[in-house]
Amino acid sequence: MKSSRVAAVGTALVGLGAADAGTPAVYIGPGVPSGTPIAANYTGPLRPQAHYSPPTAFMNDPNGCFLDASGTWHVYYQYNPTDVVAGNQHWGHATSKDLYHWDNQPIALFPPDADTNVFSGSAVIDPENTSGFFPSQDNGVVAIYTLNTDTKQTQNIAYSYDDGYTFIPYENNPVIDSESNQFRDPKVIKYEDTWVMVVAFSQEFVIGFYTSKDLKTWEFASNFSHHGLLGTQYECPNLQKMPIKDTDETKYVLTISINPGAPLGGSIMEYFPGDFNGTHFTPVDNAARIADFAKDNYAGQFFYGVPETEPAVSIAWASNWQYTQNVPTADEGWRSVMSLPRINYLTNITRLGWDMVSLPYDVSPVLGDELTASNADAASLVNKSLAIDFSSAASNALYFNASVSGLPPVKNISASAWFNFTFLSPVSGESLSGGYQFGGDNPFFVSRERTRGFDNPFFTDKASISQLLDPAGTWSIAGFIDRSIFEVFLDGGIFSGTVTFFPTAPLSIFSAATGGLPEGAQVQVKVWEVKSAWAEKEDENGTVRGNVTANAWPWV
Ligand code: FRU
Repeated sequence: MKSSRVAAVGTALVGLGAADAGTPAVYIGPGVPSGTPIAANYTGPLRPQAHYSPPTAFMNDPNGCFLDASGTWHVYYQYNPTDVVAGNQHWGHATSKDLYHWDNQPIALFPPDADTNVFSGSAVIDPENTSGFFPSQDNGVVAIYTLNTDTKQTQNIAYSYDDGYTFIPYENNPVIDSESNQFRDPKVIKYEDTWVMVVAFSQEFVIGFYTSKDLKTWEFASNFSHHGLLGTQYECPNLQKMPIKDTDETKYVLTISINPGAPLGGSIMEYFPGDFNGTHFTPVDNAARIADFAKDNYAGQFFYGVPETEPAVSIAWASNWQYTQNVPTADEGWRSVMSLPRINYLTNITRLGWDMVSLPYDVSPVLGDELTASNADAASLVNKSLAIDFSSAASNALYFNASVSGLPPVKNISASAWFNFTFLSPVSGESLSGGYQFGGDNPFFVSRERTRGFDNPFFTDKASISQLLDPAGTWSIAGFIDRSIFEVFLDGGIFSGTVTFFPTAPLSIFSAATGGLPEGAQVQVKVWEVKSAWAEKEDENGTVRGNVTANAWPWV
């Protein structure tokens, strides 16, 4: 059932064979590669080694995330293949078996003409052929996305016969028309036997809910409007069923990304735990909850196809519209990285109520040697310090976790009881640091103020959170640093923060210290080298070529 279209190379509307009469044209603009992944060099000193970043050029939101039946994870992404700033948007595509080792694939979605961009959206698998596109297979994939022109944004679909490597636009697009130029980012899930779409009326602060039996005809079901922080736009909503920790129960989470106008500046994602009955979403309370307390975590998307009894899996764009188009990675030919893949579930915590816990998805595929294996200070870091030189790690990436136990109630802990950590460059003196105060209001901070490779007034240097938790008993932290991105997870993922930073020399000495801890406290720190996932994909010239053989583009 594959299409056998004939390609026109370069600036072209792809010609259509007779068999495809009626299929919308696909526009391949000047300099836009088609039919083959983009070869690239992933060795630059700012290039993360265990995170996904595009081969070249500019990436933003994750799109179309799904897990296929063979266990391959697919991430598409907003992609301008011809510049290191946004514009000329397509869907780039990468696949992985473990969410850390990625294969670049050919661009998956092109616009219909030179004046249209393919904006954000999602993908589903349609094994029951509800769409009618897939009479003879159970692995059909449908992408649902916004087409953007100067005058309007509409919702469209495209179908794939080959597991999501190549797509054919639906001949009767759009599936939801509009007169608005601020109506975008459809995310579709299945509720019983009905497809449900959430989509943003961005500047009206409305999330629209639509339902469909076939992904082609959509009916309006309800609106969720003016909830939480507004910023100046709602973007990239997601609706996701999620397990509740230690129970067999589930709840739904509605996420809304807001940009510009986040409290810290620029972009953030907020979320609402709640209940969904197939047409209406009801939040558990009136609170706005922020998914990540720093500035570089936006447009997070949950993967379709993960069993509902398991934690939901997500990935986010680790940047911020305030400065993303100025960051110095352009000197290496690329801009923007995805966050670590994360697992997510709900739990009900003291005072705050429902909380979405986010933790790194199983990091073992990229974990290297434990650097603290026989380090007595790491095994008991009470009121002393520890330094680990990881300059011999070719990846320049490191994962650590620490737990503090045996703590008395917070009122009995001095305000000068701290856990601190630093990543330092012995060459330039630059550092990234963070710390937690066990007494007082239990604040945690992370600071990029002592990195110097990037200067922009909106690249504000510190983020902090008050944990609002009495740490009686235990406190924990996990951190993952990868050249120009750091992610931190507190108290088993109840709070998380994503921070990009751009040093002029690699940060290669990790140190951690505690001070002022009361008697009875115990501290354990473990540190691992992170292995480079990209180095494994390089040829002898250091070039990563991506998936050049399988799933060839059908019309070249
Ligand atoms: C969010 C966003 C989306 C839009 C896309 C365009 O970052 O503005 O609303 O679809 O980026 O690239």
